[in-house]
Amino acid sequence: MELLRIENLTKTIRKKKILDSISLTVNSGEIVGFLGPNGAGKTTTIKLILGLFRITEGSISICGHDVTTDFENAMKNVGGIVENPDLYKRLTGRENLEYFASMHDGIDKESIDGIVELVKMSERIDHKVKTYSLGMCQRIGIAQALLHNPRLLVLDEPTNGLDPLGIKELRDLLKYLSTEADVGVFISSHLLSEMELMCDRIYIIDNGVIIGEKRIHQEEETVNDNIYQYTFVTDNNEKILGYFKKRKANCEIVNGGVNVVLKQSEIPDIISQLVHENIRIYAVNQKHRTLEQDFLSMTTGSKTQIR
Ligand SMILES: Nc1ncnc2c1ncn2[C@@H]1O[C@H](COP(=O)(O)OP(=O)(O)OP(=O)(O)O)[C@@H](O)[C@H]1O
Ligand SMILES: [Mg+2]
Repeated sequence: MELLRIENLTKTIRKKKILDSISLTVNSGEIVGFLGPNGAGKTTTIKLILGLFRITEGSISICGHDVTTDFENAMKNVGGIVENPDLYKRLTGRENLEYFASMHDGIDKESIDGIVELVKMSERIDHKVKTYSLGMCQRIGIAQALLHNPRLLVLDEPTNGLDPLGIKELRDLLKYLSTEADVGVFISSHLLSEMELMCDRIYIIDNGVIIGEKRIHQEEETVNDNIYQYTFVTDNNEKILGYFKKRKANCEIVNGGVNVVLKQSEIPDIISQLVHENIRIYAVNQKHRTLEQDFLSMTTGSKTQIR
């Protein structure tokens, strides 16, 4: 089911186009990344989704409810955090949640307990927020966003400031929510490696324009025609460099061998040809062509660098 649909969304602030006709969708059970450098327009988009900004042109609908014309129903189905969770530091985690719950109808103590357990904060929930680590504050923020049981969760750079363990825990929580609770997650970040691990699909935004969309995990399942970087370790770097250049492959000599970008399906034939030419092959190491390379080549417009 489609939870979020953004169509040709444009936002202009003081004559400056912050977002220029962006379109995207998020389905239930999906974690969708929104990746872009500083100033790309991520927070602006999220504020528009959460009804905190006025749309200049285009539309946003949440579970089929238009954010502009059917605001209340749209907001019932979405919960989110913009930039940092806004918590009262002198209150406990539970008091914060109770306070936010009082702004919605029908959230009882049991459902608060359930959410606290879900975000794994049961042990510290009755401590004051000022004693929490950043990761704990993020968890309370997510709990707060989930209080009214929305179908869509929208998070603006929730991993900011978290350590690797905190990031992993957040990732596990979001995966759990998407698979077990069928929540759709839309999450912004400027960290490429994180998005690769966390998301099913990502949109790349730069300068207010969506410049790419990418499925993440599918790629790992289908083998052959994926492109990877390989390092060939042989007894004759110059000769195989010449060989790869003849094939017009992107290649260079590096410490310890020759790096080359090839389709996986080309590898078996290449190895037999090199063996045939009496080159001794000690190793062929495959490195993932990372999203980072794609991202950099898209956002800078430069050719993907081999590293
Ligand atoms: N209220 C505002 N008035 C004027 N310009 C704004 C306003 N809010 C955002 N902008 C501009 O819009 C652009 C996008 O900002 P936005 O905060 O959406 O980027 P972002 O992708 O969230 O960046 P970051 O990664 O730094 O959080 C920036 O150039 C910013 O200066
Ligand atoms: Mg931002």
